[in-house]
Amino acid sequence: MTVHIGAEQGQIAETVLMPGDPYRAEWAAKTFLDDAVCINKVRGMLGFTGTWRGNRVTIHGSGMGMPSLSIYANELIRDYGAKTLIRIGSCGGMQDAVKIRDVIIAMTATTLSTPSRGILRELNFAPCADYSLLEAAVNAAKSRETPYHVGGIYSSDVFYDERPDLNEQMVRHGTLGVEMEAAELYLVAARHKVRALAVLTVSDHLLTGEALPSEDRERSFGDMVEIALEAAFP
Ligand code: HPA
Repeated sequence: MTVHIGAEQGQIAETVLMPGDPYRAEWAAKTFLDDAVCINKVRGMLGFTGTWRGNRVTIHGSGMGMPSLSIYANELIRDYGAKTLIRIGSCGGMQDAVKIRDVIIAMTATTLSTPSRGILRELNFAPCADYSLLEAAVNAAKSRETPYHVGGIYSSDVFYDERPDLNEQMVRHGTLGVEMEAAELYLVAARHKVRALAVLTVSDHLLTGEALPSEDRERSFGDMVEIALEAAFP
């Protein structure tokens, strides 16, 4: 057990999918995994381990924002031996070509700061996805005919942003979407020499103001879970 994860040693798989929302972790585990067993409930941050096509997988919530994700990613890697971590979550679209429901496969993630800022200080480190996972996710999206985009995203510290000029600069520099976790996942994974990727569904759009109707959220989320699973086990 760790401070934030109640699982016993051996109860967490080497491959971990990380949605922000713990109830989505429960839904995804019950929908896509065989023999899913709940392995964590500490602070309501649910985690489940089961199998997908015979491969062991854990689906564990990250919470919202980089400080929360950082706690779980660190403990999953350092204390439970996780080797492949794939964030599955939603993001806001930032380009006209990016439509609601499309999938974004994040090659890199720009930030103002992350919990890793304390060690990196003035260094402008470029957090980067694992290429083997990225390539496998692209192949999965292609074969499922899911509309997808590959490129940079923005991992923001704030949902209620009081600096619209920053979003404008992100849009101007071709950033595909905004979320709040991927950059720190990529940094923690790089530090510990494990693989990481973020696969995101566009749930709202900063340019058009559109939002995914709640009845569509589950189906779109399901496509993303399957792309992440196929990327982990191509
Ligand atoms: N901002 C930050 N995070 C998000 C958004 C957004 O607009 N949409 C989904 N996650």
